[in-house]
Amino acid sequence: MSQQPTDEAPDPSAWSADARWALAMADAAVVLLDPEGEPLHENSAARRIARRLAGGSEDPVEAARPSIHPAGEAARQLLALVPDGGWDTACDEGRWRGRVTVGDPEVVLEIKLYCDLGAEPPKRMAVFGDVTAGAKREDALRRAKKKLAGTHEQLLQAEKMASIGQLAAGVAHEINNPIGYVHSNLGTLQEYTSALFGLIDAYAEAMEDEDPVRHRESLAATRQQLDIDFIAGDLPPLLKESREGIERVTRIVRDLKDFSHVERDAPMRPADLQQGLESTLNIVWNDLKYKARIEKHFTPMPLVECHRSEINQVLMNLLINAGQAIDDQGTIVIATGSGDGEAWISITDSGSGMPKEVIERIFDPFYTTKPVGHGTGLGLAICYGIIAKHNGRIEVSSTLGVGSTFRVVLPVTQPRAQAPGEA
Ligand SMILES: Nc1ncnc2c1ncn2[C@@H]1O[C@H](COP(=O)(O)OP(=O)(O)OP(=O)(O)O)[C@@H](O)[C@H]1O
Ligand SMILES: [Mg+2]
Repeated sequence: MSQQPTDEAPDPSAWSADARWALAMADAAVVLLDPEGEPLHENSAARRIARRLAGGSEDPVEAARPSIHPAGEAARQLLALVPDGGWDTACDEGRWRGRVTVGDPEVVLEIKLYCDLGAEPPKRMAVFGDVTAGAKREDALRRAKKKLAGTHEQLLQAEKMASIGQLAAGVAHEINNPIGYVHSNLGTLQEYTSALFGLIDAYAEAMEDEDPVRHRESLAATRQQLDIDFIAGDLPPLLKESREGIERVTRIVRDLKDFSHVERDAPMRPADLQQGLESTLNIVWNDLKYKARIEKHFTPMPLVECHRSEINQVLMNLLINAGQAIDDQGTIVIATGSGDGEAWISITDSGSGMPKEVIERIFDPFYTTKPVGHGTGLGLAICYGIIAKHNGRIEVSSTLGVGSTFRVVLPVTQPRAQAPGEA
C-alpha cells in the first residue's frame, strides 16, 4: 500500500474501493489517527499482530475477510509501543522510523510514523511491520562476522607467533651474543676494580706515614705492577661496548614486544615505517646476516596510518622469504619512498626467482614450494590480508634465476579517516 498521506480525509467510507481494499489486505499493520493522535482506524494486520503480541492465536474470521475497522484495542496496544519522541519527530520531519522488541518469544516490530499537520485536513498514520525473521538473520550475521573477525585475528596472531618461533633460535643468538661479551666485560671490570682498589689502598697506607713522599717510588712501582695505565685506557671502551650490548638486547626485546602486540580493535595510527623496518630487521637479522648483504635505499617517507605491528609482520614475512630464496650468498635491497598520497617499501632479493606458475599462486593460503616442515604457505596469504585491510596492495615481479621484488604500497591516510569533503 502507499505509505504517503493522501488528500482524502481519514474516513474509510469516503475512500475508493481500491484504497480500502489495499489497506485491508496489507501485511503491515496500519493505524490511522486524528490530528491530536487519537486512533481512528486499524486494519486486519494490526489486529493480527496485536493478538500475536498478546499471546493469542489467529482469528479465523479476520484471516478469511481482511478489512478496516474502527480503532479498538489493537490500535491502542500497538500505539503504546511507539517510543517517546517518535511522533514529535514525525510531525517535525514528516516521518519517523524505529524498531522495538517485544513479547516472549521476542517479536521485532519496525514502526513507521507519518504525520502532516499542515495538510487539509491534517493526517497521521502509524505502520507496524513484523521484521523478526530479518532481525534474527541480521543478528546471526553480525555474530558470525564478529566470530570470523576473531578467528581471523587468531590466525594472524598464530602465524605471527609461528614466525617468531621460527626465528626464536636466531633471536636467542642475537641476544646471547651481547650478553656473552657484557658478561666477559664484567669479569674484566671486576679485575680492574680490584687493581684500582689495590692502588687506592697503597695510597691510603702511604698517606698514613709521617712522610708520604717517601713512598713515591714504591707507589709508582705498584701502579705499574697493577697495569693502571692500561686499565685507564681500556676502561672507557669496555664500558661503552657493554652499554651498547645492553642497549642492543633492550632493543631486540622491545622489537619483539612490539611485534607480538595485538592491535585489532585499536584505531590505525600514523607510524614510521622505516623504524618498523629497522626493528623487523633486528629480529630477522640472525637469519639473514650470513646469507645476504643488506642494502638500504631509504628516502624520507611520511608517517603512514596503519596497525604498526601488522605491517611489521608483513615486512618480516617478506624478509624471511627473501632470505630463504637465496641459496648461498646474495643481496637484499630494501628501498622506501612515497608519492601521490602513497608510501611504499620494496624488498628485492637476488634469490631463485619464481616461474609464472608459482607467481600466480603465491598468495593462496597453504601454497608453498618449500619442503614439508619448512613452510606453511601462509606467509604471503597473511601479508595479502593485512595489506588489503590497509587499503594497499602488494606488487610482485620476479625473474627465474635472477631474483624477486615484493613492493608493498600503502595509502598514507586511510580513506575512512579523511575529513568530509576531502578528496
Ligand atoms: N622472495 C621470494 N623468492 C622466491 N620465491 C618466493 C619468494 N617469496 C615467496 N616465494 C614463493 O612463494 C611461496 C609462498 O610463500 P609464503 O611466504 O606464503 O609461504 P612459505 O614461505 O612457503 O611458508 P611460510 O611463509 O608459511 O613459512 C613460497 O613457498 C615460494 O615458493
Ligand atoms: Mg614465507
